[in-house]
Amino acid sequence: MKQVLDASLFKQFDQPFGLSHGLPGTAYVSEAFNQLENRQIFSRSWVFVGFAHEIPKTGDVIPISVGDLPLFLIRNDSQEVGAFHNVCRHRNLQIVDKTSNCGKLIRCPYHSWSYDLCGKLKNAPYFGGGAKEIPSNFSFDDNGLMQVNVEVWHDWIFVNLDENPQSFESFIAPLKVALGDNDVTQYRPVTTIDLGVVKCNWKLLMENFIEPYHVQFVHNKTTDQPLEDHYAVIEGDCLGSAVDLTEEQMAAAGPDTLGVTSKYLTLFPNFVMGTYQPDQVGVHLNTPIDAETTLQRRVIYLHKDASYSDAQIQALHDLWHSVHLEDHEMCERLQKGRHSPLAEQGGVLSPHWETSVRKFQELVANAIRPGLTR
Ligand SMILES: [Fe+2]
Repeated sequence: MKQVLDASLFKQFDQPFGLSHGLPGTAYVSEAFNQLENRQIFSRSWVFVGFAHEIPKTGDVIPISVGDLPLFLIRNDSQEVGAFHNVCRHRNLQIVDKTSNCGKLIRCPYHSWSYDLCGKLKNAPYFGGGAKEIPSNFSFDDNGLMQVNVEVWHDWIFVNLDENPQSFESFIAPLKVALGDNDVTQYRPVTTIDLGVVKCNWKLLMENFIEPYHVQFVHNKTTDQPLEDHYAVIEGDCLGSAVDLTEEQMAAAGPDTLGVTSKYLTLFPNFVMGTYQPDQVGVHLNTPIDAETTLQRRVIYLHKDASYSDAQIQALHDLWHSVHLEDHEMCERLQKGRHSPLAEQGGVLSPHWETSVRKFQELVANAIRPGLTR
């Protein structure tokens, strides 16, 4: 593994894409590289962090981590989703430690400072001596919880730690173009697959989702989507692949397999959405933990007019669970391979089927380069 992170990590991106190598192993195994990503990518982008339906009630809170920083999400009195640094202003204790309902106030358990659901400091008991005493020069207004930029698109919550964030509309615009006339806000969540810890770098899960090359080999039991019918999607920072099947192909697909017209789309860095005709959408959340560990969860959505029995929803859940486990086995072995010196030149990418992977890696390289020391 490269000990010094410098521009030579990305020399393959100085040439036009041909028969090119990908990112070196260091980019997947180095904690220093992971920290660079936290600063250069996850602290400056719209990062996907959660599902709004999981905090339905006023006072619902979820602790999250973005770029290694502790944050939390909350449903406030106006039924909006808020995001804050998860730190009490008094002694900087992590104030929300688990998914729960905080009631009307977010209370720090250490010295009972409490904040309203919009982060305003309401109580700082005994801070000036007596129960209600407050030092004369202390301002409640200056000591609220620190807000973070947050946007909700349908069920999907994004935060951006940048002081001057990209406009959210311009961020999601390429995905909307790639979705065409499929209005994904018409879909409702029906089941969640908690896939837990995957022992690989977050980028491998993203790259795996956007290339169709592996599907026929890895998912030959779970999907019926011929490679030849796939094409890459590169629409600005929306990267992925898609497959258009004929009515005959869809009718010929096995009963327990996925054999429908589909789009596998992402928004850099970590939003993942699959659409499956005629009435299904899947969104999964990849949360990087460290260089070699990622948490993954998938929510399955059905069109609001679709009618599925509980057994059919369970079958969808089980199908996607199997598909993800097939991918995870490959991604965990990709991760192991990246510890080899051979991986330092990066794998060689298909100039036909892995164009979206190349583009994803270019976005990583472009984001990291300004943060390199030399
Ligand atoms: Fe796959």
